[in-house]
Amino acid sequence: MQQASFVIRGDICYSETPQSLRLCPDSWLVCLEGHSAGVFPALPEQYANLPVLDCSRCLVMPGLTDLHAHAPQYALRGQGMDLELLDWLNRYIFPEESRYASLDYADQAYRRFVEDVRRGPNTRVCVFATVHPEATIRLMDLLEESGLCAMVGKVNMDRNCPDTIREASAAASAQGTRDWLERIEGRYRRTRPILTPRFIPSCTDELMGELGKIQRQYGLPVQSHLSENRGEIAWVRELCPGAKHYGDAYHAFGLFGGPACPTIMAHCVYSEGEEAELLKKQNVFIAHCPASNANLSSGIAPVRRFLQDGLRVGLGSDVAGGTHTSIFKAMADAIQASKLRWRLVDQSLAPLTVREAFYLGTLGGGAFFGTVGSFAPGYEFDALVIDDARYTPQGRMELETRLERTVYLSDERDIRHKFVQGRKIV
Ligand code: GUN
Ligand code: FE
Repeated sequence: MQQASFVIRGDICYSETPQSLRLCPDSWLVCLEGHSAGVFPALPEQYANLPVLDCSRCLVMPGLTDLHAHAPQYALRGQGMDLELLDWLNRYIFPEESRYASLDYADQAYRRFVEDVRRGPNTRVCVFATVHPEATIRLMDLLEESGLCAMVGKVNMDRNCPDTIREASAAASAQGTRDWLERIEGRYRRTRPILTPRFIPSCTDELMGELGKIQRQYGLPVQSHLSENRGEIAWVRELCPGAKHYGDAYHAFGLFGGPACPTIMAHCVYSEGEEAELLKKQNVFIAHCPASNANLSSGIAPVRRFLQDGLRVGLGSDVAGGTHTSIFKAMADAIQASKLRWRLVDQSLAPLTVREAFYLGTLGGGAFFGTVGSFAPGYEFDALVIDDARYTPQGRMELETRLERTVYLSDERDIRHKFVQGRKIV
């Protein structure tokens, strides 16, 4: 079914706030030209002539958003995580990313990544590519073809990495970024560029200054890493003695949120005090990456505190620090991590609930893309139809229980349909 106006009948749920989940058993979800017109207990007369997709007894929910993943690390997932961040980057990640100088290699690897995400539950992704413009454009072409909505960054790095992936100078890195932006101008409908300084240790002040200019000239969003690992944070303190905190090292160049610079910072495991206040003030989205934070022994981010303080948070797979692309898996990981933190670190910060984790993976992260992640009227129509019969016994079970089991138990076998902006892609 390709038309952008239709109705789905099923057991529908979506988040309104972190704590408020709307549950609508046997209801009608109306899609009008790619946007939700709302959920109704009975089909309103005015929509009676739209085609109906009968998904009775299936769960219908908004598509999931992965706010942080590294597409070129997908081929390497599930290996080499016996190290912490900085050694892991040097030993495994930088050599792997060097291979994306070959368009053939990039094409093969990126096809696998994109196909796996397409078949999974995520409808929106924010991804890092590598420093290579050619390969980055190939990734963008593949994402566009897949029907997913994506933001993709050509990575910038001009220091502290092997010659094979170090851009020749700040000027060369900036010029490469401008050339990339010119080449993709007007080329895509669903795929957008996002400015991607890898992290402070990879970018000289001169490069950050150039990227600040590019951000303002093109009005681009920004994605990067923040306060992930203790060794990394100590290194940033040495590299930027004038910065008040790690976040300030981005902020000094106008690359840390604010109305004209929508920004995602991944991890924020150790963001507190003034840094957390600045994240909030600048409306920066935190990509919480619980699987990666465990795999690389980085720590456990205080997500409960972020929510209590009104910061913006979504979930990231951080493949290949994380091994799975599914944001259902990230929801379960976020809950588990929060329980360990509560038990072992800080009893004043209660564990995340399933409702809250579901919010983070739908509306929490979706908001970075605009009106995304809900079925409230006017939201872009990204939807998953999940048949939970494989793991839910026959007979009545509360809708919220079925959602909880779906978070923990579902996989791509259970996805009956997946829509992005009203277009069916699975
Ligand atoms: N910080 C800088 N680069 C990376 C990366 O590739 N993965 C993770 N997890 N953290 C980073
Ligand atoms: Fe990352």
